[in-house]
Amino acid sequence: MARDAKIELHLHLEGAAPPAFIRGLAKEKSIDIGGIFDERGNYRYKDFWDFLKVYEAATSVLTSPDDYARLTTAVLEESAANGVVYSETFLSPDFCGGRDVGAWREYLLAMQEAAAKAERQDGITLRGIITCIRHFGPEKARETAICAAETAGDWIVGFGIAGDEKIGQPKDYRWSFDCAREAGLRLTAHAGEWGGPESVRAAVRDLEVERIGHGVRAIEDLALVDELAEKGIVLEVCPGSNVALGLYPSFRKHPIGQLYDRGVKVTVSTDDPPFFHTTMTREFQMLHDAFDWDDGVFETLNRTALDAAFCDADTKAKIAKRLEA
Ligand code: ADE
Ligand code: ZN
Repeated sequence: MARDAKIELHLHLEGAAPPAFIRGLAKEKSIDIGGIFDERGNYRYKDFWDFLKVYEAATSVLTSPDDYARLTTAVLEESAANGVVYSETFLSPDFCGGRDVGAWREYLLAMQEAAAKAERQDGITLRGIITCIRHFGPEKARETAICAAETAGDWIVGFGIAGDEKIGQPKDYRWSFDCAREAGLRLTAHAGEWGGPESVRAAVRDLEVERIGHGVRAIEDLALVDELAEKGIVLEVCPGSNVALGLYPSFRKHPIGQLYDRGVKVTVSTDDPPFFHTTMTREFQMLHDAFDWDDGVFETLNRTALDAAFCDADTKAKIAKRLEA
């Protein structure tokens, strides 16, 4: 499965940083990031909230555009090795220049240059979704949305929200989502991961998103499942992430199979692969093993992901050829 072509729509760039990469930068810069690794050198966290702290501690060593260029290169190399031909990654001006538009432009340019090189070398295409962070609050999200609006185009193609879903309500972020939409950005929001079905309803109703990050807890309300299917809302499902963080005990018990069977547009991603000991190859393999999904289902997942991708039509046509090859 590693060599089969895949599309990934839900990947946090910092969350994809290999632990050795973060350790190396910490050492280079003599930054003490505390005990965020276990004895085998992997990221160590107790639960989702601890995961967010470890994520931010790891991210604290990424302090320059060049660090983000190196990170982009490392992440795309790993994605390409797993057959990914097109990827959309969440980028946060919060971590890249503290939401200052001028600084953000420099980080963005560095990442775009690294991505262009990876595309020439490995045939993987990257696009960015600017993401505000829910637990940083609505005020900071507005500044993030302004960074997004200022750099919207054919590379920055979307806007979203990640972070602690238990804090605040989607409607608190409405101004930011309106700002991004008016700048031509497509919209997605993390919901229905740590919040129940009502959080998915609120994201669709109050932020008017066309995709939901996770959204899997919609399964607890079948009327909502039908509504998602009818409206064609796409779920960026990350089964390995949900299992690693303890939301479901196993792939077999994960609702992606039921959501797919009920006609919801589901796609598959890794979220923060080294944190969850996963790759796109492993996600596909585990789904095959859990649900006996065959090549036809994986082709459907890829096609759904390509349709739901935020890039322009010419890019989609190019990616479609890579899927066929
Ligand atoms: N940021 C990185 N991974 C996340 C997740 N799974 N949920 C919310 N915010 C995140
Ligand atoms: Zn995520």
